[in-house]
Amino acid sequence: MKIAIGADHAGYSAKKEVICFLEGNGYSVTDVGAFSEESVDYPDIALKVADMVASHKDDRGILFCGTGIGVSITANKTPGIRAALCSSIVLAKLSRRHNDANILAIGARFHTVKEMISIIKVWLETPFDGGRHTNRINKIEKLT
Ligand code: RB5
Repeated sequence: MKIAIGADHAGYSAKKEVICFLEGNGYSVTDVGAFSEESVDYPDIALKVADMVASHKDDRGILFCGTGIGVSITANKTPGIRAALCSSIVLAKLSRRHNDANILAIGARFHTVKEMISIIKVWLETPFDGGRHTNRINKIEKLT
């Protein structure tokens, strides 16, 4: 699976740790930045990850900012993107099972690295349930 990953300054350190985890577990990673803790605007990063996923250059995206809110709001402006801000394993699982979320947003200031990796692992490994949820996803697609 190919994953696009991005973070603003608030998520920079989390992103570094998560890239190590992903590459160590056989995932291919496209890192769109930020590449330091210097302040950047999260919409610039979120749009890059959203573009990589919407254009199918990568299969899924992971985004970090301080709260996860800014990057999720931004990513969801791109047609074809279903970005889910998940603060727990159960939400990560449901965002895949029910919403077929293709981008995971995480608030880096609210989790330990261990928690974030647990959330990410479940999110990457959980398939979409399909069935009645497909019709709902299709209705979302028609909005963009
Ligand atoms: C940056 O300070 C912060 O505003 C950003 O990381 C994010 O939390 C915005 O939603």
